[in-house]
Amino acid sequence: MTVQILQFGTTGQLGVELLRQAPRHDVAVTGLGRADGDLADPAAAAQRVRAARPDLVVIAAAYTAVDLAETERDLARTVNALTPGAIAGAAAEVGAAVVNISTDYVFDGDGGAPYAEDAPPNPLNVYGATKLEGERAVAAGNPRALNIRTSWVVSAHGKNFIKTMLRVAAAGNPLKVVDDQSGRPTSAADLAGFILDLAPRLAAAKAGDPLFGTVHYANDGEVTWRGFAQAIFAEALGDKAPDVAATTTADYVTPARRPLRATMDLSRLQRVYGVTPRPWPAALREILAELQAQA
Ligand SMILES: NC(=O)c1ccc[n+]([C@@H]2O[C@H](COP(=O)([O-])OP(=O)(O)OC[C@H]3O[C@@H](n4cnc5c(N)ncnc54)[C@H](OP(=O)(O)O)[C@@H]3O)[C@@H](O)[C@H]2O)c1
Repeated sequence: MTVQILQFGTTGQLGVELLRQAPRHDVAVTGLGRADGDLADPAAAAQRVRAARPDLVVIAAAYTAVDLAETERDLARTVNALTPGAIAGAAAEVGAAVVNISTDYVFDGDGGAPYAEDAPPNPLNVYGATKLEGERAVAAGNPRALNIRTSWVVSAHGKNFIKTMLRVAAAGNPLKVVDDQSGRPTSAADLAGFILDLAPRLAAAKAGDPLFGTVHYANDGEVTWRGFAQAIFAEALGDKAPDVAATTTADYVTPARRPLRATMDLSRLQRVYGVTPRPWPAALREILAELQAQA
């Protein structure tokens, strides 16, 4: 049976990948961009769900400006927590399951990594706090909800670290990148594939099924931001790779505090879903090849 999916967010990294890969799956996706599904308006977003009566709702949009969230707290909270909660509740009313995306920034990264799904969260910034509130609102609103926590999302489109590094290097500016924060880069394409592969099972699963709850999804492996930058340059530029100097979180001051090591444990992904994501360098190579093909 073709799974009817209502997808909030069509222009972000994950949203684009979901729409791109959907034709390869037995799903029919209705994508709502900001004009049709503004997450700043919880009641309107919930109404969209009631009207569409899908089998599955995927919330691929979010307030993702981590530093700006420190000053736009109310908007970040509405988009990341109140509206996802309202969407989840409306989905429950029409018998739909819901997938919400969250972040490793729910953890403080203060020595507890790798974090399992049930490790105590303690977000250091407003973005992480709103995403944690969103997870809880979604779970409270719908017994058939899956919160997928991911990290360091990258792809060949949208705003992300790979594209920023290549732009800065092309401008010939000296590079200095934080070397004391580590995590797991994640391909938006791989995450989208995971969600679409899972869609039929989620649409069929009953409340109480272990598929619902919270799961961590990231590419395998762990690296610092500087190590990631070096890998990007080595792969994209070979012997023309620029030097990348190291800096520290203490020296690179940003409005939002970031965890030093919020790296997620991925064993539940393997145990419950039977999924082992590929290592991040393989995903990086694919993204760089796509960027090269676009050039
Ligand atoms: N990026 C990361 O490194 C990272 C890390 C951990 C978790 N995540 C989570 O992963 C998910 C996907 O992230 P991503 O990287 O794909 O995001 P992204 O590329 O930053 O895109 C954000 C998307 O949300 C939409 N959006 C923002 N505010 C909206 C609003 N008020 N109403 C409707 N749409 C709105 C944007 O639409 P417009 O184009 O109209 O602005 C865009 O489609 C999010 O839940 C994010 O929190 C991301």
